[in-house]
Parts: sequence; structure tokens; C-alpha cells
Amino acid sequence: MPHVAPSVRPLVAGNWKMNGTRQSLGEAEAVREALGDIPCDVMLCPPATLLGAMATLASGSRLQVGAQDCHDRTSGAFTGDLSAEMLADAGAFAIIVGHSERRTLHSDRDRDVRAKAAAAHRAGLMAIICVGETAGERRAGLTLAVVQRQLAGSLPPTVTPANTVIAYEPVWAIGTGLTPTSSDVAAVHAEMRRLLCEQFGEPGATIRLLYGGSVKAANAHELLNIADVNGALVGGASLLAADFLGILKNAYGV
Ligand code: PGA
Repeated sequence: MPHVAPSVRPLVAGNWKMNGTRQSLGEAEAVREALGDIPCDVMLCPPATLLGAMATLASGSRLQVGAQDCHDRTSGAFTGDLSAEMLADAGAFAIIVGHSERRTLHSDRDRDVRAKAAAAHRAGLMAIICVGETAGERRAGLTLAVVQRQLAGSLPPTVTPANTVIAYEPVWAIGTGLTPTSSDVAAVHAEMRRLLCEQFGEPGATIRLLYGGSVKAANAHELLNIADVNGALVGGASLLAADFLGILKNAYGV
């Protein structure tokens, strides 16, 4: 089984979703101050309203700042939407695309996710591409088939290990407190690794694969030490610095 090279640096990214006002920036400051020599990359993805301010406070520090979703076009008559170029201009380093909340609540299909990931690359940003099965799909034994289909459909040809991260997020584990077993996570990540190596050759071995869904300090050590798990995408437990830092500490001993 191909394993990711040991030199791959893990990434722990926090997705604030539709949470946070300017008052919440103190949490990002607290994360920034605690990073020190931490042996992983650390990112927070606030709502777009806080991107500029968070990018300013993170500037010159180890804290990376990402955005949540984008339109695939550069500009135009798309009321309420934001282009990847605008998010880059506001200070984003990455964009989360294909999150299950976008796939479900905004009907994003694989081809939309692929176009958005390509837009992130076009703007010089990293794409964090999310995949994952629903509870019903898991019960029906379709987990690997769903992840295979989503990966095949959601990755643009511009993918490189530097500009793309894949997050496996079982939909039923998001915000529920439920997590798959370690062996279930290992099986999905091994399959994703196999597919990436098949599609991209040697570079496929170093594309980072994150696990997401109810990651918290108490389960971080176990989940983030599974083979081919190169970090985490964290929702609820990224809102407060103490919770987020607890994950980093337990996973990587900061
Ligand atoms: P959660 O969300 O950590 O709150 O389960 C994860 C995510 O949606 O990325």
C-alpha cells in the first residue's frame, strides 16, 4: 500500500462556517500566539466578512488564513458571490470547496466543485476539496464508491501536492459527535491515496489527505495518527482557541 512520504507536513484547518464577528478575532490571535514551533501547518477559514482582518492579524505569522467556497468565474453579474481572485485579494491562502453543506444546501455537483477548485488554482490559491458519504450511503456499503466518484469528478487537472488538499468528511460525522472507527478512516484514506497515485503518479503520494467530522481534542490523537491521515478539517472545535489548540496539542504534542 503506498504511504505518504514522511516529509509531508500535516495541516490542521479550522472551518468557522457561518460563525464569528469581529469580536471573534481574539480567538485567531490566541491561536497565532500559541503556534511557536508547531510541526504542522495551521489554518483558520473565517466567514468572508472577517477574511481581511484575519489576514492582517496573521500576516508574518505561522497562521494561514483560508476562505469558504467561491464562484468559478473571475468577476461578473453574480450577486452575493465572491470570486477566487477576490478572496486572494482579501488575503486568503486557500479556499474550501465541495463541503457537504455546499453540496447539500447549495446543490454543488462534482463538476461545480471541480470548477471552483480550478478557480482557486487560477487565483494562485490552495483548494481544500471535500468528499464524503452520507449515512445512507455508508449503510448501503457505498462509502468507497461515493468517495471514488467524488474524487474522480471534483479534481481539476491543475492539482498538485502544493495547491490541493483533500478532506474526507463523512457527512454523518459532521457536527454530530460521531466518528468512524480508525480502521474505517484508514480504509478510505488508503483508497484515496491509491486513486491519487494512479491519477497523478508520484506527486499523488504527497497530496495531503485530511480527516474531518467531529474532530476534537479528545479524539485528535487517534484520528490524526492513522496512516495516510495528514491532518484535519475541524468545524465546531475551531471556534474557540482553547479547543482548537487542544487538538494541535494532542495530535502533534505542541
Ligand atoms: P465538525 O465540522 O468538526 O463541526 O464536525 C467539520 C466540517 O464540517 O468541516
